Amino acid sequence: MPKSPTLEMMYRTIEMKSRGLEVYSLAPGEPYFPTPAEIVEAAHRAMVEGQTHYVEALGTRAVRNAIAGKVRRLNGIHAEPGDVAFMPNKYALAAALQAVVNRGGEVLVPDPGYFYSEAVTLAGGRPIRYRLSDDFSLDIDEIRRRTGDRTRAIVVNTPSNPTARVFERSALEELYEFARDRGIRVLSDEAYEDVIFEGAHFSVGSLEDSPDTVISIFSLSKSFSMTGWRAGYVVAGRGILSLINKYVEHTMSCFPPFIQAAAAYALDNQERLVAPMKGECARRRKIVMDALEGIDGLDVNRIEGTFYAFPRYGLQVGSVKLAEMLLREQRVAVVPGIGFGPSGEGRFRISFCQREEELLRGLEGLRAFFRRSNSGSSSRGRGRESMDSDNMQMDGRGGLRRSVDAFYGCAYLDESIAYRASTLQRPLERAVSAPRGLHVQLHDLWRSARQRHPHGALHIGIAAQRRQECAEEGGAGEHPGLSELSRAQFLGYPGALRRKRADAPVARGLHQRFVVDDEAAFSQPFEGF
Ligand SMILES: Cc1ncc(COP(=O)(O)O)c(C=O)c1O
Repeated sequence: MPKSPTLEMMYRTIEMKSRGLEVYSLAPGEPYFPTPAEIVEAAHRAMVEGQTHYVEALGTRAVRNAIAGKVRRLNGIHAEPGDVAFMPNKYALAAALQAVVNRGGEVLVPDPGYFYSEAVTLAGGRPIRYRLSDDFSLDIDEIRRRTGDRTRAIVVNTPSNPTARVFERSALEELYEFARDRGIRVLSDEAYEDVIFEGAHFSVGSLEDSPDTVISIFSLSKSFSMTGWRAGYVVAGRGILSLINKYVEHTMSCFPPFIQAAAAYALDNQERLVAPMKGECARRRKIVMDALEGIDGLDVNRIEGTFYAFPRYGLQVGSVKLAEMLLREQRVAVVPGIGFGPSGEGRFRISFCQREEELLRGLEGLRAFFRRSNSGSSSRGRGRESMDSDNMQMDGRGGLRRSVDAFYGCAYLDESIAYRASTLQRPLERAVSAPRGLHVQLHDLWRSARQRHPHGALHIGIAAQRRQECAEEGGAGEHPGLSELSRAQFLGYPGALRRKRADAPVARGLHQRFVVDDEAAFSQPFEGF
């Protein structure tokens, strides 16, 4: 089972930041704002009052009252406290899937969509992906086609992560009628109910007189910036709730009562407390839309809700490779589209409820990356064919498929550290002539330099040029100079050369031309830059 791509990116970002590297993180699916102080105080009060012991598996009476009140008031769902339970959204999803899957049943999950497949598999079920329409709306005919005798549930998520789409009421009504008539549950994930810019949120559970076909799952994570609290809730028919009750009793026993007390406070005051978050998200959405629409080579989706953009890019590389390149070259962390299902390939997700400065720098990194990629060797929008004709092509795993004839190495240091040219001269020469493989040598070099200068940044760039160009530039053995290097097709760490400035304390003598016969030396990306 694959790891969660958002968590994977978040861990990598944390790790890079811990090494003193600056990373602009547009990957994690959480708002940056602090949790409103009133909610924190409510939790504190509850702890001081002694709400620190076991409570009922499905939640305290107070929180269940607050949940039922909120879904009646804001979602139009006809629920009593006996129809609801407190638990984190993801946990509710896992528990509900356990309840409905029943030994090998199938569950329909959206493609592209959040990571529901993994939860279905963990519950012993079989995930079946259903494709969203080209504009990411619900395609009920596709759902009908995917439904079979073993289908137990259909997962819908609106507003949708990562597509930012808000489903229309009419589509949800059609889905509900289809599911009800077939005796299939609808699992409605409404984690982003408050993050909405166009249209209105509609809860499919409101179509029922009392919860039955629909299992509605909500979260406090995004609305109140409470991702670390693990607070959410589920609304379901009593039969499903009693199965969920068993699941909680035998896994968690219960959830922390002081968090439930804070959640009750938040839900009672939801309209007022979410208003500032909504305003800030709307402002950032405009910044993001304006920035992305100004980047050639990106096709931006409509952002109706959530705090994600999910643009399509034109470059001929897979989305995992693209995310790697963005992280390495621009220090911008994004989530590869393929992580959200096969239909997400060719896209990447950015999350925009970030610190504004981080967001702006991340967007600047994206702009720089695509400007450079689009210009390639001067012609904009180069596709596979034109790259082929240059006799160079990335193979999608980061290696070179066709041969190139010459490689150049270059090393320089950030302005932040004074580093004498001679310190690097010898190791670089050794690296170049070593039989061990250039990438291993350069990695060793980088590691030893970092040990000596843990807070500085050393960049080593590799460039490749075709032999013909080398000849034009002065023949074998002669260093082509920086301007020529920057025209070369970069394979390794373009960022290194791009960020090079004439006045940076560069070891000038370090620019070396060397011919590498062993193309495999470049078949693996360097780690650790
Ligand atoms: C669509 C969707 N559902 C559920 C979750 C999980 O939410 P929680 O943190 O409340 O468990 C997320 C988190 O990113 C999400 O995007």
